[in-house]
Amino acid sequence: MAIQSVCILGGTGFVGRHIVRLLCAQGVAVRVPTRSADKARQALAPLPVEAVPADVQDAAQLARLFAGIDAVINLVGILHEQGGQTFQQAHVGLAGKVIEAARSAGAGRLLHMSALNAAPDGPSAYLRSKGEAERLVRAGGLQATIFRPSVIFGAEDSFLNLFAKLAKWAPVMPLACADAKFQPVWVEDVARAFVHSLNDAASIGQRCDLCGPQVYRLRELVAFAAACRGRHPLIVPLPGAVAYAQATVMEWLPVKLITRDNLDSMRLDNVCGCAFPFGIAPARMEDIAPQYLSATGP
Ligand SMILES: NC(=O)c1ccc[n+]([C@@H]2O[C@H](COP(=O)([O-])OP(=O)(O)OC[C@H]3O[C@@H](n4cnc5c(N)ncnc54)[C@H](OP(=O)(O)O)[C@@H]3O)[C@@H](O)[C@H]2O)c1
Repeated sequence: MAIQSVCILGGTGFVGRHIVRLLCAQGVAVRVPTRSADKARQALAPLPVEAVPADVQDAAQLARLFAGIDAVINLVGILHEQGGQTFQQAHVGLAGKVIEAARSAGAGRLLHMSALNAAPDGPSAYLRSKGEAERLVRAGGLQATIFRPSVIFGAEDSFLNLFAKLAKWAPVMPLACADAKFQPVWVEDVARAFVHSLNDAASIGQRCDLCGPQVYRLRELVAFAAACRGRHPLIVPLPGAVAYAQATVMEWLPVKLITRDNLDSMRLDNVCGCAFPFGIAPARMEDIAPQYLSATGP
């Protein structure tokens, strides 16, 4: 029988909002736990969503959240450890609690958000924790599908938008890992893949890598984002040791732009070796991103 109710952890976030919107459009009942009711209102209004203030790390609350739910989508993830939040807790610990609570509540279907290159022996703590979480999900006894996107772009992304903003002020941009490869994927395509897989029995037990149609080096992405704002900064690739020194200093800033762990993640190319799943033709970055990057002008 088709999935009729879904609980989405991380449903207020960048990716989550798109998935919630598509599910609501299909008439699926959506429950979104959140740490902030205000954030949920802002992110999800006027969609017919049941936003529930909750601590998803609390097993008893998770059990209540999953009661009467057909499927769980876990999107919770952090890119930097900050303010007491650790990768272990946000990725591995939570995945285990979600599996346990979903099993006992009888919510048999699980869509789990991971990341490209996630592996227990990956080069960064971020990728290792995502890999450990995948291992739990695969062994968890649920009808699970794992998604592993490259970097995701869309109107509210924190990747291209960040470079576009920086380019506004910086005529010269020192860049770590300038030659790292990415295959950016549109947030709407990621959301479509999740929603499609929900009722696709063939995707159960699968790991789906999600990438856009083209590979870029980081320096090309920075130049592209800047050009959308009418800026053409001089991009200066940083040698490895200098990049690590810069990241070490930046880790002390209140707002994390880049950490040494991020640099470790970029030691692997962030690209897919397969086509986008479910017959979806992923959008080109050049067809989407200029619309939002240029919106506020140079
Ligand atoms: N964005 C990308 O380029 C990208 C690429 C690859 C993989 N991913 C993965 O995709 C997922 C979603 O990414 P996103 O960009 O949509 O992230 P996001 O905008 O930061 O949203 C994540 C959501 O998860 C919840 N959350 C965050 N930390 C939490 C914590 N410690 N405990 C409980 N809830 C927490 C938050 O909801 P509340 O504040 O409402 O509680 C937040 O809205 C993540 O797992 C990320 O690792 C993203």
